[in-house]
Formats: sequence, structure tokens, C-alpha cells
Amino acid sequence: MTAVHDRTTDLATPADWAGAAPAPIGVDHAFNGYVAGTVINALDRLGVWERLAAAPLLDLRALAVDLGPAVRERVLRELVRAAATCGWVRLQEDGDTALLTSAGQEIIRMRGYFTWGVGGYNEVFAQAHRIVTGEGAFGTDVLRDEAMVALGSGQNDRSFMSGTLDEVLADVDFSVLADLGSGISARVSRVVGERPGTRGLGLDISAPATELGVRTIAEAGLTGRVEAIRTDVLDVCHRDAHRDKLAQVDTVMSFFLLHDLLADPVTRPHTFTRLREAFPAARTFVLADTMLRPDAENSASLPVFSLGYELAHALMGVPLHTKETYEELFAAAGLVPRRIVPFGTPHSWLYVLEAR
Ligand SMILES: C[S@@+](CC[C@H](N)C(=O)[O-])C[C@H]1O[C@@H](n2cnc3c(N)ncnc32)[C@H](O)[C@@H]1O
Repeated sequence: MTAVHDRTTDLATPADWAGAAPAPIGVDHAFNGYVAGTVINALDRLGVWERLAAAPLLDLRALAVDLGPAVRERVLRELVRAAATCGWVRLQEDGDTALLTSAGQEIIRMRGYFTWGVGGYNEVFAQAHRIVTGEGAFGTDVLRDEAMVALGSGQNDRSFMSGTLDEVLADVDFSVLADLGSGISARVSRVVGERPGTRGLGLDISAPATELGVRTIAEAGLTGRVEAIRTDVLDVCHRDAHRDKLAQVDTVMSFFLLHDLLADPVTRPHTFTRLREAFPAARTFVLADTMLRPDAENSASLPVFSLGYELAHALMGVPLHTKETYEELFAAAGLVPRRIVPFGTPHSWLYVLEAR
């Protein structure tokens, strides 16, 4: 999706970051988009997209059998019919089979956004009014589904970000790699698995994501080479957690976590300096995050993801930052960009930084 530019200045913003959805959004687009998103997520949780990705003609009778004896076949067929109404499959043989369309292929490629939004942040969006009035607060009575957030990120990584990262990492020599906010440890497992002799650590605050991470590592045959550790990276930075294990790490990577680490304005100016101290042997930091869209309110079109990302973080009380702010904070910590590349998701940039 995004081309890699081996440079750190004059970077072109990919055309698809402006998006094709018109703003203002009409009522019919808004309502149908909401329902369509729930259909995408439901079909993903049922494994329908995975089956269609493997073979574009799906037999709904066989699917119903595979889903188990309690399956409600009529409801399943109605859900697939909704997908046909959206144009993602074509029903054939009196509705017994569904054929994937090219629009459906694009949904499969991007379905991680819906796992993230509908699967992960559904309750946060649904309770937005209670968060506003103070009747509900994020983190206590309004929660996100962390495993779904991590799963959605992992799906997008596999679909359209892994190629960019692999190309960037080809220039990075590492033997022990740490991934901060590693989610289900899919990325660290893939990267370590592809480079013999290396080891990896996946650090994540979420218990469910870490449990999924242990499974991911085992399934990749990397138990012993990659370890999933449940920890708050802020404790690693500011309170010396896990120092022994981290001392050997020579390369640190982190994707889509930095805004969480930078949330507190008091610790923000020193977070990257503390991060460097937590990994004393690390010379290279490969860091990517989604940043604030320039001039968001005045844009005549919307890309995928950005609006949901911005609103979800506002509801959680996590501020977002411009690219310029990230670059000032890196510079203050002596982290010097060697490469900067657009990283798939709109307004996301990946930095290869040298610790000097
Ligand atoms: C948006 S997900 C990204 C996951 C993964 N890096 C990826 O790109 O697929 C952010 C991850 O950071 C984790 N996280 C959030 N705050 C954290 C913290 N303070 N310490 C460690 N992990 C954290 C979340 O549990 C979640 O798995």
C-alpha cells in the first residue's frame, strides 16, 4: 500500500490518507456504514472472511455444520445476505453459496479496522454520552476489549504493513529485539522467526493480549526464543521493571503504542529518555504511531480509521500529537531519524532512530 522512501525530509503523504469518503457524511452513508461495520466484524468472528480468503465460493450449509450443533442457520444466512446487500458477496444456488466479490476482497484486506473498532471499541463509542456527562468513565465502568484491539492491529499488520516493516528491518542488524505494546506478539514472532539466531520479547499491559501472545509464539514454534511478558511499559520506563531481561535488548520496536506512553503531560518530555535508559544496550529504535491529521476539521473527505481513532482516544482521555511533536520529543532524547516512512494506516509514520 505504501512505498518506502529512504529519506527523512520532503516526505510525500500517500494519496489514500486523504480518503474517499465525502464529508459532510449523509444520513444514508452514516447509518449504513454503522450497520455494515457490525456485519464485517460478525462475519470475521465467525471465520467467514478467512474461509472466503482461502476459497472465494462458500457453501453456507457446510459452514453451518462446521459452526456447531447450536448454530442458528437462518440467522447465519441473513447475516451473509446483509453482506450480499453491501456488495461483498453474491448469493448463488438459491442462497446456498456465497461468492466473494472484488469489493469483498478489499474488506478482507482491511478487516482489522473493524475488529479494532466494532470488536475493540464498541462499548466506548456506545457509552460516549455517559463519558461526556460524567456518569461513566473509561477504564472503570466503560471498557474496551483489549484482545480485539490487539487482534485488529495484528490483522492489519499482516495485510498491509508487514511488507514495509520487513523492508525497513532488512537494514537493521539485531540479535535481541523487544516489541513494546506487542499485542498478541504476532509481529515480534514473525520478525524473529524470519531471522535465525535472534531472540525477542513482547511486552504488553493487557492480560488477554499476552495470553494470546503465548499462543501465537507457541504456534510459530518460537517458545524459548520469543517471550510474551505482561507489563506496563511505563513501569519499564519510569520504575525499573524487568531491568535484567531488558539489558540485552539491542533493538527496540514499538507500533501504535507511543501515544499511550506520552499521555501524561508531566512525564511526556522525558519518556523517550527514560525508554533509552530502560534499554541501555539498544542502539536502534524502530517506532511507529498514528499521528494527528493536519487540518482535520476542514477536510472535504475522510480516510478509513482516522475519525474512529481520534474519537476513541478523546473518549479515553488520551491526547494525540502531531508529527512535529514526535520529532521534537525524539530529538530531546538524542534519537536521530535514519529513515522515516509512511506506515499503511492513514497518518501513521514509521521512524528508524539511532540512539546517539
Ligand atoms: C493499538 S495496539 C497495537 C498492538 C501492536 N503493537 C500492533 O501494532 O499490532 C496497542 C497495544 O499496546 C498495549 N498497551 C497500551 N498501553 C500499554 C502500556 N502502558 N504498556 C504496555 N502495553 C500497552 C495494548 O494492550 C495494545 O496491545
